[in-house]
Amino acid sequence: MKIIAFLLAILLVTMPIAPALADQVSNLERVPELSTGAKAFDLHCAGCHINGGNIVRRGKNLKLKTLQKNHMDSIEAIATIVTNGKGNMSAYRDRLPPEQIQAVAGYVLDRAQADWR
Ligand code: HEC
Repeated sequence: MKIIAFLLAILLVTMPIAPALADQVSNLERVPELSTGAKAFDLHCAGCHINGGNIVRRGKNLKLKTLQKNHMDSIEAIATIVTNGKGNMSAYRDRLPPEQIQAVAGYVLDRAQADWR
């Protein structure tokens, strides 16, 4: 009898935790584009743009101020340069489907707004 009371007590203590965990999971699911974008960025962009920099042309980095100055501070503009390439940056239209280009552009803008921290 004591054992049952003990198990019941454990159940009562752990039950409120379950909804909290479910909440965290749904938070991740709410922004799937960002995690798709993050993966694509690590795979295709970080080689040159690690931490929002630019190891090839330092002045063309992905910091918010630079993006604003170069009119690259929108998902459309970033998606366009990723699709078509520019100068020493190659085009990604044959390597990434449009929805992944949109996702990576959204990720870049999101990180730039957070100052890549
Ligand atoms: C081989 C190195 C390289 C890779 C890989 C690369 N880039 Fe670039 N990126 C550059 C260079 C060089 C420029 C400057 C182009 C120019 O204006 O001449 C640039 C410019 C940019 C700009 C404009 C920045 C500004 O301030 O004007 C954005 C946005 C950008 N890249 C995003 C990306 C994304 C997203 C990816 C991955 C899908 C990527 N780049 C992959 C080299 C690279």
